Amino acid sequence: MSNFPLQNGVLHAEGVPLPQIAAQFGTPTYVYSKAQLLDNFAGYARPCAGRDALVCYAMKANSNLAILDLLARQGAGFDIVSGGELLRVIAAGGDPGKVIFSGVGKTVREIELALDKGILCFNVESIPELHRINEVAGRLGKRAPVSLRVNPNVDAKTHPYIATGLKASKFGVAFSDALATYRSAAALPHLDVVGIDCHIGSQLLDDAPLLEALDKLIELIDTLASEGIVLHHLDVGGGLGIDYGAGDAAPVPIASYVERVFARVDAWRADKYDGRPIKVIFEPGRSIVGNTGVLLMNVEFIKPGEEKNFCVIDAAMNDMARPTLYQAWMDVQPVTPRQGEAVTYDLVGPVCESGDWLARDRALVVEPGDLLAMMAAGAYGFTMSSNYNTRGRAAEVLVDGENVHLIRRREEPAELFALESLVG
Ligand code: LLP
Repeated sequence: MSNFPLQNGVLHAEGVPLPQIAAQFGTPTYVYSKAQLLDNFAGYARPCAGRDALVCYAMKANSNLAILDLLARQGAGFDIVSGGELLRVIAAGGDPGKVIFSGVGKTVREIELALDKGILCFNVESIPELHRINEVAGRLGKRAPVSLRVNPNVDAKTHPYIATGLKASKFGVAFSDALATYRSAAALPHLDVVGIDCHIGSQLLDDAPLLEALDKLIELIDTLASEGIVLHHLDVGGGLGIDYGAGDAAPVPIASYVERVFARVDAWRADKYDGRPIKVIFEPGRSIVGNTGVLLMNVEFIKPGEEKNFCVIDAAMNDMARPTLYQAWMDVQPVTPRQGEAVTYDLVGPVCESGDWLARDRALVVEPGDLLAMMAAGAYGFTMSSNYNTRGRAAEVLVDGENVHLIRRREEPAELFALESLVG
């Protein structure tokens, strides 16, 4: 059953009617369902129970402290891409010992911070980065745990902006260079070579490319072991997609994918790896939070045009960048559906850009003052929002049954220029 049900003609978040949230907190507002969040996490955690496995939530998808706290309490680790994200994990009560640090451009200060806090592993993406981490660790008198992000050259068949495992990608070490890079890493005195990882892309509805990438990692682990480089963990990355309601094929259910990963890993360990232990790490982002949230917005004006009709809403590309950035199709539903003849609209925001649209060619029965909800907006929504046009970022609210928690208040305009100063 959906955690955003239409009940008595009104869209709800769990037990709370969305108009009540709009009245209390205004719009645009991101509204999250706690039950959905925990359910998605359990999709990963349940098949991991009793195994040497860790779910490191890719917090770039949604890094609100309340979300991190709820996941940390379920035992989640975190996949981070900046020192700022590490500080968020700690502020939310997460365990730095369950943090993996991804990204192609880690700075010296970020590496120092991560070593100081004792993270689980650096996912290293290049030889210069290996040298930098080695140098910083040596200076601090520490050993840095590292994994290499290997680029398995698998086609994730997703939008080019979010496909990351191909040869032309800036990410990872080429599969053909991996062995040599591992040898260099093993020779550096202040590094512990502990793992291997990959991440081939995002919004994958089929898990076949993910499993193909896993097979390539396994092949490499065997080769490394034969050279005496024995790894302790295998990180399969993130990437599992969600249903955006666009009529695409249904995504593979989380637990089925996780079970398929374990089936492959178990068969290989028994067959070829002499039953040696290896921890399996997952880095899911979107599949944990995507369908956990909606973006609640208000219709300001209806503007008929010569070629197009516009429905002007109070949310904009600064609140939700996915449509204009990736031509992503996001489902938009009326909060209180009306009877009547539908008109086809482009849903546009108040930002001064032609690219400021959230949905195109949608048949809706709407009037000014109506509320709309963009569905499945919980991932890469708020975290990619900006203050363009000096627009304060949206409020964020988490619903738990009948209870509503404000987990981030709306930004006030004065806060947006509070860090600036005049010259004279
Ligand atoms: N691990 C690494 C190293 C990543 O780069 C990412 C996402 C993930 C895990 C999590 O991937 P997920 O499970 O969420 O697919 N803003 C884009 C998506 C960018 C994904 C970036 N990396 C969007 O809105 O579609």
